[in-house]
Amino acid sequence: MRVLVTPDYRTLSCQAAEIIADAVRFEPRLTLGLPTGSTPLGMYEELVRKHSGENLDFSRVKTFNLDEYIGLAPNHPRSYHTYMHLHFFDHVHIPMKHIHIPDGAPGIDTDLESIRYEQAIQQAGGIDLLVVGIGSNGHIAFNEPGSSFASRTRMVDLARETRANAGRYFVSEDEVPRRAITVGIGTILESRRILLLASGSGKSDAVARALQGPVSEDMPASALQGHSDVTAILDAAAAPCRDEC
Ligand code: GLP
Repeated sequence: MRVLVTPDYRTLSCQAAEIIADAVRFEPRLTLGLPTGSTPLGMYEELVRKHSGENLDFSRVKTFNLDEYIGLAPNHPRSYHTYMHLHFFDHVHIPMKHIHIPDGAPGIDTDLESIRYEQAIQQAGGIDLLVVGIGSNGHIAFNEPGSSFASRTRMVDLARETRANAGRYFVSEDEVPRRAITVGIGTILESRRILLLASGSGKSDAVARALQGPVSEDMPASALQGHSDVTAILDAAAAPCRDEC
């Protein structure tokens, strides 16, 4: 695993965007796996800037988001559908038919949706470059501690810590959905290339355990140690402690 430690969040965002931009320029028909959360916001902003300022062309790129809450309609202000359109898709001219996000709308048959989503990834030829954040408990996408490293797209219960962290985006923590559809760790590990992003001191423990600790299903992100092409981009605050700690 390559680990890049950047001085600050802005540099992290620019480096992540540059890696994606290079990959899209090299292979315009790239299939991307895309995350949500606060960490990738700067990366999306930079990609939008590259689209308008440097003519970075996303018109042939396909995207698969990693997860979505269950029980929120796509147009709900806190759905990941809304997040993605607001921060990225509405600004970079990706054809709608190239955009994939799990459907967690109320009443959805989550088993069927999970199978459909996993098949759609396979039919697209798999994910070339998957970008993923990390939860403070080590989750990746919504694969909480205890998730099998062989897991595929499925419905999951969200951990209390995950819902507490997400509470800041909702009126109250009670409003945070209890379940989500997420791609599995097995799905993630089949991606050809993985970019892990982590920012802020709240992530440093999880990052240390994920990158340097034992590989264990108690720490979902540690599964990435078994992948042959992972680049972790950390800002200084998220980097595992060194001499000064
Ligand atoms: C949510 C998302 C994850 C994301 C995580 C961390 O749980 N489903 O994909 O990595 O939040 O979010 P943040 O970047 O806001 O810390």
